[in-house]
Amino acid sequence: MQFVMDCLRVNDSGNLEMGGCDLAKVAAEFSTPAYVMDETTIRENCRVYRRSVEEFYGGNGLVLYASKALSCKAIYRIMKEEGLGVDVVSGGELYTALQADFPAEKIYFHGNNKTEEELIFALDNGVGRIVVDNRHELELLNRLAKERDKTAKILFRIKPGIDAHTHSFIQTGQIDSKFGVALETGEAEEIIRHALTLSNISVVGIHCHIGSQIFELDPFRMAAKVMLGFMAKVRDTYGLSLGELNLGGGFGIKYVEEDMPVDYEKYMEAVSQTVSEECTRLNLEKPFIVMEPGRSIVASAGLTLYTVGCIKEIPDVRTYLSVDGGMADNPRHIMYGSEYEAVLVEKPLAPADTTVTVAGRCCESGDILIQSAHLPKAEPGDILAIQATGAYHYSMASNYNRIPRPPIIMVKDGKATLAVRRETYEDILGCDL
Ligand code: LLP
Repeated sequence: MQFVMDCLRVNDSGNLEMGGCDLAKVAAEFSTPAYVMDETTIRENCRVYRRSVEEFYGGNGLVLYASKALSCKAIYRIMKEEGLGVDVVSGGELYTALQADFPAEKIYFHGNNKTEEELIFALDNGVGRIVVDNRHELELLNRLAKERDKTAKILFRIKPGIDAHTHSFIQTGQIDSKFGVALETGEAEEIIRHALTLSNISVVGIHCHIGSQIFELDPFRMAAKVMLGFMAKVRDTYGLSLGELNLGGGFGIKYVEEDMPVDYEKYMEAVSQTVSEECTRLNLEKPFIVMEPGRSIVASAGLTLYTVGCIKEIPDVRTYLSVDGGMADNPRHIMYGSEYEAVLVEKPLAPADTTVTVAGRCCESGDILIQSAHLPKAEPGDILAIQATGAYHYSMASNYNRIPRPPIIMVKDGKATLAVRRETYEDILGCDL
């Protein structure tokens, strides 16, 4: 059995182990379903990104953790200790970061339709940058900043016209996106012209995000090239030099054996080369580069533990193996058809000689976690781990069927610590009047 997560091993008892903790014992102590995260892997991923900015770009940049991937106080504390900034995309994420004492000046606030309350919250707390998506937001932000006698430092979200989700990426007039302002229609240039007339706005840079779970470097190089071209145009047209270029996140990770992610440091290596070439060609000063990895920092550091319940064999059709979680803690299969690798925690090396469909417990036929999982013969009570669930699982979990959200357990050096406790029925009733 090959594990898709590098931090997994089999211990002397023959059980799956992560962060020095026997995962069968973790399941027994904290019950299931449960998200378990390897803290060392999270920190190591942060360091790889930070080092790459030092090594390939002389440290003239900042790595932001895109906290939509996993937002809880423990993760913001780790990011603070590792010297990263964070990207937040809602008042809730911002509130969580601030409650964890994350430094406001290293927070970037994204979103295509931030509310007035959220913008006020961001201004009042001094977030470092607001990434402005559109003209409506620009004007609203200017008014709110003026009322508070503040100047909002902003980046504009630009659509660079690069579609990284096709098999081999393409550059198109991709204006059909709810995010940002388009280059090819002149919208981006126009919004900058307008921003320069506003009293309480300071335009410090531009931002783009070309997609997620990307395995190639070329789309990022191309995005950097397009964005630098625009920076040169802004300089030539308005005499404005934009010092900051934020190229977003999107770096792919290994969910299943076939996935071949690029080593994380390669992104900065590739981008810095393009930036150097283009800046020389355009006679531009090299900008401060910001990158925003989310998934690639936490996904491969986490797995979900479930207990196997009913195993239903439908002769000549399939075998359903149902677990005590499902689409409420992992909506990604039902939303995107995402694929995963599973492993039985107490039989990690036994031959995988059965094929089952791993089903959840929600009242919905589509509540499937894995269509075809190759596993050793399982029995009710076995603990099943689904790998690479550290990103976009807890953060996308729901209370569908009034199922309480699972806890997050951090494992490190043989110790398992609760970072987020399991929800209770009382928590679920908390807002009912
Ligand atoms: N920056 C911006 C502006 C973004 O919109 C995103 C992700 C990121 C950074 C981080 O991208 P990452 O490095 O995590 O790929 N729910 C989906 C993923 C949605 C990503 C949305 N934006 C999923 O479960 O696959």
